[in-house]
Amino acid sequence: MTDNVNWVQAAKLADVPECEMLGVNLEGQKVALYHLEDGEIHASANICTHEYALLSDGWLEGCEVECPLHAGRFDIRSGKGLCHPIERDLAVYDVEVRDGLIFVALPSK
Ligand code: FES
Repeated sequence: MTDNVNWVQAAKLADVPECEMLGVNLEGQKVALYHLEDGEIHASANICTHEYALLSDGWLEGCEVECPLHAGRFDIRSGKGLCHPIERDLAVYDVEVRDGLIFVALPSK
């Protein structure tokens, strides 16, 4: 449903080294970008679904991000919450890399 998304340029690929993440503000939304060790790029909402913490301030291990506040973990490929105290999954967004730039498909408002 390409009509319902808004592709937004988020960062340069070079700004997100492998095995690292980057928090960005895109059109008023806090988004986390992840560069996995297999080279895949993913994007999710950057605010934890438990309380207020930026996931990009936490830890990325494989395809899981750990929240810095209470150690909740999400699979950043699906957004699935993996452990206590997470009760709600995380929003994840489609990503494309073109010409060294990362684009994120944000839901249209
Ligand atoms: Fe993220 Fe509590 S705020 S686990």
